[in-house]
Amino acid sequence: MIKKDNLYFPPEKFKKSAWINKKGIYQEAEKDPIKFWEKIAKEAYWKKPWNLAFEHKAPYFKWFLGGQINLAENCLDKNLEKKKDKIALIWEPEPVEEQPRIFTYKELLKEVNKAANALKKLGVKKGDRVGIYLPMIPEVIISMLACARIGAVHTVVFSAFSPQALKVRLQDTEARILITADGYFRRGQIINLKSNADEATKETKVEKVVVVKRTKNEVVWNPEINFWFEDLLKNEKEVCEPEAMDSEDLLFILYTSGSTGKPKGILHTCGGYTVQSKFTGKIIFDLHDNDIIWCTSDAGWITGHTYAIYSPLLNGATTVIFEGAPDWPTPERWAQIIEEHKVTIFYTAPTAIRMFEKYGAEIIKKYKFSTLRLLGSVGEPIDESAWNWYFAEVGKGKCPLVDTWWQTETGGILITSLPGIGPFKPSFTGLPLPGVKIDILDDEGKSCPVNKEGNLVILPPFTPGMLRGVYKNPEKYLETYWAKYGTNTYFTSDGAFRDEGGLVRIVGRVDDVLKVAGHRVSTGELENAAAKHPDIIESAVVGIPDEIKGEVPIIFAVSRKEKPEEELKKGIIDQIKKEIGPIALPKEVYIVEDLPKTRSGKIMRRILKRLFTGEELGDLSTLSNPEIVEKIKGKMQNLNGKNKS
Ligand code: WTA
Repeated sequence: MIKKDNLYFPPEKFKKSAWINKKGIYQEAEKDPIKFWEKIAKEAYWKKPWNLAFEHKAPYFKWFLGGQINLAENCLDKNLEKKKDKIALIWEPEPVEEQPRIFTYKELLKEVNKAANALKKLGVKKGDRVGIYLPMIPEVIISMLACARIGAVHTVVFSAFSPQALKVRLQDTEARILITADGYFRRGQIINLKSNADEATKETKVEKVVVVKRTKNEVVWNPEINFWFEDLLKNEKEVCEPEAMDSEDLLFILYTSGSTGKPKGILHTCGGYTVQSKFTGKIIFDLHDNDIIWCTSDAGWITGHTYAIYSPLLNGATTVIFEGAPDWPTPERWAQIIEEHKVTIFYTAPTAIRMFEKYGAEIIKKYKFSTLRLLGSVGEPIDESAWNWYFAEVGKGKCPLVDTWWQTETGGILITSLPGIGPFKPSFTGLPLPGVKIDILDDEGKSCPVNKEGNLVILPPFTPGMLRGVYKNPEKYLETYWAKYGTNTYFTSDGAFRDEGGLVRIVGRVDDVLKVAGHRVSTGELENAAAKHPDIIESAVVGIPDEIKGEVPIIFAVSRKEKPEEELKKGIIDQIKKEIGPIALPKEVYIVEDLPKTRSGKIMRRILKRLFTGEELGDLSTLSNPEIVEKIKGKMQNLNGKNKS
């Protein structure tokens, strides 16, 4: 890479072969973004062309109206002509002694078609919601593509979510079918997913549960409603006509955390999502025919949907997915996977990068990573030191490093510098993509000058792959995204600023959402979970900085009864595991007498956070109970002292 001052630029060789290497694309898009996206959209296969590119009836907008398309057909059939024996998918199981499974485009299409036919036989029709609660095994991709093929709407729920978290999502979508597995491997243990699924489906509309045989552990079986995935597929036909989907038909619902306790079902539609995933993967990861991309995200998150699955396949590349944890059974597992599968593009989260760094020196000496040509980061701000380490030690100073900003709601990456152009600056996510209009506004709605922090917003015409709403909750849609600056300005809930060159740096969320190891959870969700503990009256969660995970929650709880603190703490942790799962457990639980509150009863989380970080507490005069602050402080010091000794 070429370094000029504090910026990096791609070397000539990289530039030459990159899809995009001329800045002109930014001006072209800026001049007429709708026309620009129309040109991009033509790279996808449409069963019927659209007759109107964009319609905006704030706060709603639509793209490619009247067009018909099928995402699975674009991923598979359209690649077959040239690439039938090309590898589409490499699956790396967690146990090292087990062999990877490999699917060519042709083989993947066959499996998807069989699964699609099987779903139809179970009664799934266009528009029906299908729950998918699977680990990172090929069947998760096969199931998602099968839904897309027949026009069913998939809702993938991360396999580490608890039965209760799955239940809430199944209830909201009213899915009648759930696809799950007997179990999966995690750090050498078998996790019995089927028993979670059984618990979750009680009190839902789920009528049939399809089970992939993965770990062969014993499961409770009800032959009336349980079906083995492999049995259903065995005699199915290998062809299945892809459904002609209207551009604006629902493609999937993916739940994510917002400021309140209840997760929101984010809606994505067929045409726009297909166009945007194909385009962003192509230009940001510079996906070419011989690329092998490993995006480490689970399919249960938007990053897994778009860049582990849909975008690589839309671009005819090879995608690698991995069942396990990147540091299991040894800290070098991730490095072995890159070498073994000759990964050319590696896309992961800062938490993983910091973890690799921590264990790193010996590993880095051993592995040359000679196949890598591009690195990516996503999910949380990447600090300068992690950026530099990743760039120098994994990329060996020769790979462009794209720090990509986006959200579940945006469907695909919207801000990052392009690998064939640059510039790349440690800890800055970069420039908005061509065709993406953003601004950074102060609280009055004025554009912030250089280096001044404000709120990141997205401006019309937005982008084709952005959300179309919140499932069954138009008020929430309006209130979350369009209330702050009016219905023409999408509010991201992220704080950011720009440098002199227009490069954007994301500072972090300005709402009550935490990013714990890149996972999105809200303080409200955690507090609601704690509140279900019978001895807890109320609680407050705040996020505090963490060296590896970026941010971790701590919880302050007020108990109803005098009980041993250790018992209460364990009870709260168990409650959170039950309601949400193990993904965002609090680092500390403090049992306190009361929480700092304003006179109107609002809990002042800011003060609790400052108690932890040691910042100035600020004005306490608005509190109705200022004396509690000192008490909590004393308690924290006591406990911290005890922990240290
Ligand atoms: C944060 C993940 C800094 C941000 C794709 C956003 C980032 C939230 C970055 C969305 C980045 C994502 N730098 N922060 N490169 N990428 N974020 O929905 O706060 O899980 O609003 O989507 O992650 O999280 P979500």
